[in-house]
Amino acid sequence: MSSMLSEKFLIDNDGIQRFLVTINVNGIDYTRMVKANTVLVNFLRDELDLTGTKRGCEMGDCGSCTVLVDGKPMNSCLMLAVEAEGKQIITIEGVSTSENLDVLQEKFLEYGAIQCGYCSAGMILSAKALLTRNPHPTYEEVQEGISGNICRCTGYVNIIRAILAASGQEVENY
Ligand code: FES
Ligand code: FES
Repeated sequence: MSSMLSEKFLIDNDGIQRFLVTINVNGIDYTRMVKANTVLVNFLRDELDLTGTKRGCEMGDCGSCTVLVDGKPMNSCLMLAVEAEGKQIITIEGVSTSENLDVLQEKFLEYGAIQCGYCSAGMILSAKALLTRNPHPTYEEVQEGISGNICRCTGYVNIIRAILAASGQEVENY
């Protein structure tokens, strides 16, 4: 039997604290009970089935779990689900529409910026945040913008070219 201590806080019969949170993900409000130590990447993948967000190092080093939190790129392995209460989260599933890919996704495909694809969701969300705050970045600014995202396959050049192309810039010289 569980005991409800308040409307938003509960200790279940396993002795684990759980909290009632409402998190807006890709424009939809989700209300769930979560453990105090549930990290956002696990909430997205295991509770909401949004498996486009990838678990990698789970230590904040690789960037594969990057999502946008109120428009800013964050490592969702380092953020608790309870900390996301009331925030707007965008995952890779929220970047495209049912009809069209986002221009970044199109350019990643066009420029060969995806190989195994494990880094791609996080990379695209970091790039999206970059282009929102800086619509015409330089090559170096793109490098800086994705510096928290590790890719083990592509060598980065095609990723940077794809992001520059998505910003409408000529990339033939790079
Ligand atoms: S899984 Fe989050 S930074 Fe690596
Ligand atoms: S495409 Fe494989 S890790 Fe980036």
